[in-house]
Amino acid sequence: MTATPVWVQLVYLACAVCFILALKGLSGPRTARTGNLVGAGAAVVACAVPFFYLDLDHVVPILVAIAVGTVAGAVGARRVQMTQMPQMVALFNGVGGGAAALVALLELRELLPGAGHADASWFILVATAFTIFVGSVSFAGSVVTFAKLQGLMTSAPVVFPGLAVVFGAGLVGGVGLSTQLVLSPAMWVGIVLGLVGLVFGVLLVLPVGGADVPIVISLLNAFTGLTVAAGGYVLDNVVLLVAGTLVGASGTFLTLLMARAMGRSVANILFGALKGGSTLGGGEVSDRPVKSAGPEDVAIMLGYADRVIIVPGYGLAVAQAQHTLRELVDVLSERGAQVDYAIHPVAGRMPGHMNVLLAEAQVPYEQLKEMDDINGDFKDADVVLVVGANDVVNPAAKTTPGAPIYGMPILNADEAKQVVFMKRSMRPGFAGIENELLFEDNTTLLFGDAKDSMSKLLNAVKAL
Ligand code: TAP
Repeated sequence: MTATPVWVQLVYLACAVCFILALKGLSGPRTARTGNLVGAGAAVVACAVPFFYLDLDHVVPILVAIAVGTVAGAVGARRVQMTQMPQMVALFNGVGGGAAALVALLELRELLPGAGHADASWFILVATAFTIFVGSVSFAGSVVTFAKLQGLMTSAPVVFPGLAVVFGAGLVGGVGLSTQLVLSPAMWVGIVLGLVGLVFGVLLVLPVGGADVPIVISLLNAFTGLTVAAGGYVLDNVVLLVAGTLVGASGTFLTLLMARAMGRSVANILFGALKGGSTLGGGEVSDRPVKSAGPEDVAIMLGYADRVIIVPGYGLAVAQAQHTLRELVDVLSERGAQVDYAIHPVAGRMPGHMNVLLAEAQVPYEQLKEMDDINGDFKDADVVLVVGANDVVNPAAKTTPGAPIYGMPILNADEAKQVVFMKRSMRPGFAGIENELLFEDNTTLLFGDAKDSMSKLLNAVKAL
């Protein structure tokens, strides 16, 4: 392997620093856009550098592949709806894992005895086997998560008799073939290892229910990061090693944080369905009586409140009512009310979903309050307006052991003087369980699509 020139190492070091700065930037709403640009810019530079110092074969097909990937990525990212973002992330992530596995397979050819190179060290072969297996798992798992979220297949957990045994056999097969690849490297072992990884990836994601799929996407993202890091070691490429390690570490943290915010363990999310399923979703539509009201009645409650807290949820994103909601909050603030948005860490269907949605509607960041910061304020709130949220305010998380969301920290909307829910029906939220708060004396339901109801509510408040 030729030594990497010093200037290339310096550029790679600068790229690695930019990746770290990008992550730092992405951790806050004000700096996220800049962070994203810094990271993307460094990735472009890192991809361009090999053209300037390596004597590359097949330059034309490489450039064509880059052009096709760039166009597909740019068009896809521009067209995707906010609610479809998780499946787009899944797809991009899967492609990354698959690419890393293919690169490792190609590199294996160079590492075989008699390929003209010095015998590969066992550690390089371990990294190669890891990249092929885990990259294939990540690719196949991501394709299944995409299909689930895009509605191309059922989003319910898919289990069949003997799944656990086949799953275990896949894992043992993966480890066995990896060992074989290290002890006695051969191309056929690498190919079979990749195929076993594909099957294992499918089996890993099939039993996961729709609600938990975003967490598995994050886990697979961590897998891809580790795969790319191992690939960087195999290729002796520092920037791949650093970028992969960062993705692996941040994906792992995100997975753990999301699981904690849902009050679940990662094992329960992955294997809950095998034990009888706590990831089912769906659920009964309640026919118990509730108190409902029209926009005019709710406008009076809101228009004369001093303290209002908005709880946004998945339905707000579905209805795309964020702009009208911001207008409503502006009008209420002008009338003298103190209004804040209470953001639950897993409201919606992806991390930061509500922050992104409300930022798009130009909601000032100061009005977005994280759960721990605002939970003490609910008892002083005159009205809590729950817009398309359900599970994140469901008291069953505190009161009902055995409920799928039991143990998940929730927003204390139940402590407010009045609670108004904006939703279309009595269907439950993502966890598929009834919400007792809907039936409380101080709760009022404003039925209808959130965008439509919000416009009527806004007009009614303006008319007060
Ligand atoms: P949910 O509990 O899913 O409730 C969404 C509510 O929105 C439902 O009550 C639904 O009722 C209503 N809705 C849907 N479309 C609507 C529309 N067009 N207009 C008005 N209302 C509409 O949402 P949540 O409270 O945001 O909780 C999030 C759930 O997703 C949690 O269980 C969480 O664990 C899970 N989850 C989150 C993430 C992340 S990272 N955010 C990842 C995985 C899972 P109707 O159908 O009656 O309208």
